[in-house]
Amino acid sequence: MKQILVIGSEGQLGSEIKDRCKKVDNAQFSFTSLETLDVTNTEDLTKTIKAVNYSYIINCTAYTAVDKAESEKDLAIKINTTAVEKIGEAAQAINAKVIHISTDYVFDGNSHFPYKEDAATAPQSVYGATKLSGEKHLMESNPNSIIIRTSWLYSANGNNFVKTMIRLGQEREELGVIFDQIGTPTYAGDLADAILHIIESDMSKSIPFVPGIYHYSNEGVVSWYDFTLAILEKMNISCRVKPIETKDYPTPAPRPHYSVLNKAKIKETYNLAIPYWRDSLDICLSKIK
Ligand SMILES: NC(=O)c1ccc[n+]([C@@H]2O[C@H](COP(=O)([O-])OP(=O)(O)OC[C@H]3O[C@@H](n4cnc5c(N)ncnc54)[C@H](OP(=O)(O)O)[C@@H]3O)[C@@H](O)[C@H]2O)c1
Repeated sequence: MKQILVIGSEGQLGSEIKDRCKKVDNAQFSFTSLETLDVTNTEDLTKTIKAVNYSYIINCTAYTAVDKAESEKDLAIKINTTAVEKIGEAAQAINAKVIHISTDYVFDGNSHFPYKEDAATAPQSVYGATKLSGEKHLMESNPNSIIIRTSWLYSANGNNFVKTMIRLGQEREELGVIFDQIGTPTYAGDLADAILHIIESDMSKSIPFVPGIYHYSNEGVVSWYDFTLAILEKMNISCRVKPIETKDYPTPAPRPHYSVLNKAKIKETYNLAIPYWRDSLDICLSKIK
């Protein structure tokens, strides 16, 4: 029986992993949340990891308040960089493999082609910079790690763009939504499936654990405006949606204009079929309904 630790199990991704863990054979899962383990307490973090002979550690914690991070840099560093390094160190000491999640915000968004894993990084925000630094520190502290960069994550739980658009669409007659930022949504359930597939493949020795950085989002490309239209249409919400430019919706942290991720590496390495964003949106919206 392999021991697997999921840190940050109450977030969007963590909850989806928790929902699916019973389907994984020959594995015993342990879960921590902010209440049971604050990762900024690095002593507790190290002790928790070293207490059990874990084979895999999945880190789903993050400081994800992108705008607030601009004024709360120290806390964002503690959670997105320092804690990630400590997870790597403690995991290395017990010979555990780490799966950690990063973001499309490590890129500047000036590309016109989907970003590959080795594309030059240039984060434009504190959040993006702290996540990038977390990637580097993790790979140094535990080279036996997989880092999955994802984008536009949503689920039926927690706060996310999909749920915000449903709420605003119900409250207002008209919504202005940015049409000049292009990316790909990711249903957290699909990402959870991909992570568990990587672990199960390693446990069954069908596909080995290949450390490194990978990109994962749903298939397809969309703007926030088009994404909103799809959400409201599916939910039968008749609010008017007006396309607006990024300059008309200023935020403390700049967002990449283009952050489509190239997923060829994870698909080829792990023989993964990734769902199209509209199909996954339908699944999530039927849960929200
Ligand atoms: N959300 C996105 O659009 C997006 C896009 C690209 C990449 N990602 C990455 O994907 C991963 C999963 O994101 P997500 O959307 O699932 O995030 P999330 O829903 O915000 O979950 C993060 C979890 O971490 C917990 N947490 C925060 N500070 C903590 C601390 N000091 N100690 C322990 N736990 C702490 C949070 O607890 P509380 O909720 O109680 O604070 C929350 O349960 C993250 O690495 C994120 O950077 C997300």
